[in-house]
Amino acid sequence: MQNFDYQTPTRLIFGKGVIKELPEVMSGFGKKILLTYGGGSIKRIGLYDKVKELLKDFTIYELSDIQPNPKYDPSVLDGVKICKENDIDVILAVGGGSVLDCSKAIAAGAKYDGDPWDLISYQAFATDSIPIVDIITLAATGSEYDCGGVISRTETNDKIGYMDPHNFPLVSFLDPTYTFTVPKNQTAAGCADAMNHIMEQYFCGDSTLLNDGFMEAGLKSLMINAVKCIENPEDYTARAEMMLACTYGCNGIYSLGNSESGWPCHAIEHALSAYYDITHGVGLAIITPRWMKYILSERTVDRFVKYGVNVFGINPNQDKFEIADQAIEATYKFFESIDIPMHLKDVGIDESRIGEMAHHIAVNEGLEEAYVPLYEDDLVKILTESL
Ligand code: NZQ
Ligand code: ZN
Repeated sequence: MQNFDYQTPTRLIFGKGVIKELPEVMSGFGKKILLTYGGGSIKRIGLYDKVKELLKDFTIYELSDIQPNPKYDPSVLDGVKICKENDIDVILAVGGGSVLDCSKAIAAGAKYDGDPWDLISYQAFATDSIPIVDIITLAATGSEYDCGGVISRTETNDKIGYMDPHNFPLVSFLDPTYTFTVPKNQTAAGCADAMNHIMEQYFCGDSTLLNDGFMEAGLKSLMINAVKCIENPEDYTARAEMMLACTYGCNGIYSLGNSESGWPCHAIEHALSAYYDITHGVGLAIITPRWMKYILSERTVDRFVKYGVNVFGINPNQDKFEIADQAIEATYKFFESIDIPMHLKDVGIDESRIGEMAHHIAVNEGLEEAYVPLYEDDLVKILTESL
C-alpha cells in the first residue's frame, strides 16, 4: 500500500427535503451570495424559486447559462468579475457538475490578482478562494465532494481537469429528488462517468482487497441503480444510491493507498469534449472498452480477470484471456444496453482530427506515466478503434 495524506473538508447533507437547512448554512458564510446555475433546468424543476424563497433575507447576485463542459470565457470570467465587483461572501452552485466546476474556478479566480487561467493551467497556485456551497442536481461527476474542476477554453481546444484543495465545496446538499427530472440520456451518461471514475482507480498497479471490494460494489451499485433510474425516474431508493456512489467518485476515497493510474480515459475524453463539445460520460463510455482492449496484456490480465469475475460474475474456470475478453465485452454491452451511442461517428466525430487530438493528449496529459503508458501512436490507435 502506498503512503497517502488525505483530507476532505466537505460537509454532506443528504436526503429528501434537506434544503430547509439552506438559510442556516448560508448565514455561516455571509450575506452576499453569487447564485450560479446552468441553462434553466433548475427553473423548470422549481428549485430556483425554492432557493430564492429560502434566501429572501440575503443579497443574491446571479450567473446563469453555464454550459455543459463549462467555458472559461464567458462563464468563469463573468463570475470572477461579479465576485470582485460586489465583494461576494459565498458562491451557491445549483446544478450539475458543469455548474459546480465553473463555480470552483470562479471561487479561486476571484481571490487571485492575475489571469484565472493561470490557476486552471497550474502556472500559479491559489492561496485563497471564496467558500462554495452547492445543491447538486445530477448524479455523475462527484464534483460535490472533490476539489477538482474541468474547464474548457474553446479557442485553444483545451479542456483541463485540475485539482485545487481550496476548491472543495464546504457544504454539499444532496437531495435525490432533484435528480428525478434528469433525462434518460444524462442518467446513462452520469452512470458511465461514475463507473469510469472507479475504473480509472481500479486499473492500477497496486491495490488492496479493501479498495477492490469497495470499487467492485460501487460498479455493481451504479449499474443496477442506473437501470432502475432509467426505467422509473422517480425511484427514490435507486436515485439515492446512485447519487452516493457518484459522490464518492473523484475524491480518492475509493482508492486510498493505491498507486496512480494516470486516468487515461479521462485524458482522452477531455480532448474529445474540447474539440467536439460532446457529453463527457458518453465519450468515456465509447473510449473505455477500446482502451481496455488496447492495454490487455500478460501484465494486466489478472486485473481484468478480477474485474470480470467480481463485477460481472463471469465464470472463473476459464482461460484468463478468455475471461478478460468477456469482461471487456460485458462493459461494452452494459453501456450499449442503456442506450449510450458507442461509436465516435454516432456523436459526430470522424477520423479527420484524430491525429491532432492524439498529439494534444500526448503533449498535455502526461500519459507516459499511466498504469500502461500511452504515447501519441497508441492514442491514434485507441481513437481509431473507437470510430
Ligand atoms: O444547464 P441545465 O439547464 O442545468 O441542464 C443540465 C445540462 O443540460 C442538465 N441537468 C442538470 N440537472 C438536471 C438537468 N436536467 C434535468 N433535471 C436536472 N435535475 O443536464 C445537462 C448536463 O449537465 P452537466 O452539469 O454538464 O452534467 P455533469 O454533471 O455530467 O457534468 C459534466 C461536466 O463535469 C466534468 C465533465 O468533464 C463535464 O465538463 N467533470 C467534473 C469532474 C469533477 N469536478 O470532479 C469529474 C468528472 O470526471 C468530469 O470530468
Ligand atoms: Zn468523469
